[in-house]
Amino acid sequence: MSLLNRDKSEFFHISESETQSLVEPKVFFNCLGKSLSLDNKTGQISELVELPSEWKGKHDSEVGTLEIFVLKGSLICDLQVLGAGSFLAIPIGSGIFVAQNYDRNWSVTEFPGEISSSNQLHGVLSQSLRWPDPIVDGIHGASNGLLRLVCIAPGFIGDNRQESHPDCWEEIFWLAGDFFMPGTGLQAPGSYLTNPPGHIHGPLVSQRGSVMLVHTDSPAGFDFHEPPIDQKVLEGHLEKESWLDEPKHLCFSNHLTSVSLC
Ligand SMILES: [Fe+2]
Repeated sequence: MSLLNRDKSEFFHISESETQSLVEPKVFFNCLGKSLSLDNKTGQISELVELPSEWKGKHDSEVGTLEIFVLKGSLICDLQVLGAGSFLAIPIGSGIFVAQNYDRNWSVTEFPGEISSSNQLHGVLSQSLRWPDPIVDGIHGASNGLLRLVCIAPGFIGDNRQESHPDCWEEIFWLAGDFFMPGTGLQAPGSYLTNPPGHIHGPLVSQRGSVMLVHTDSPAGFDFHEPPIDQKVLEGHLEKESWLDEPKHLCFSNHLTSVSLC
């Protein structure tokens, strides 16, 4: 699969994406990996990279910011061993930031799409991986966007209206748990979704909870769209979704009343 540009929405499982020899960024030149998206204007790239043992690389921080979330194995940077779940950032200019999985703090995020049922919010926890990460007047993230590890609690049902983000491109990479988005599909570990500005998606439902990386390229505001999706569709997912089965990735056609593999 060639680098996917960010002009249209994409939804696929990483197993469907071809492993190839990477060209950019230079630090990963000739490494094997999967290209997920490319912004042709800024050169920003999202990709999965497989680093062989004994690999060594050097990133030129004058060229751009490098952000790495370690999915498996380990990486050594500045003599620090970064195991699975670790995060590494080398911002433009200078400095290296490292955060082990067990050293990062979760904070409760006020999620604009969450329905309050009997005045009981299910809750969304977030770890900010890019700073600053403000929430001002319902707009999430700073001028260069947000990068968060997000954990949604079991039983979560979002606003039953679909949402869009007017001014940002959004990508989500699922790491754990189950997720359901009517009109898009079922998300499982390894699912990947992109939403260009204004692309309508959602609502969001999870039976067992879900952990995902959420990334935007600029501050994320929320618009909600009428008519709402029937609450029974959302509750129906929870009522039939087993806690014992492995979460499945399934792409739906972009039509809320019909389901087809894509
Ligand atoms: Fe979204």
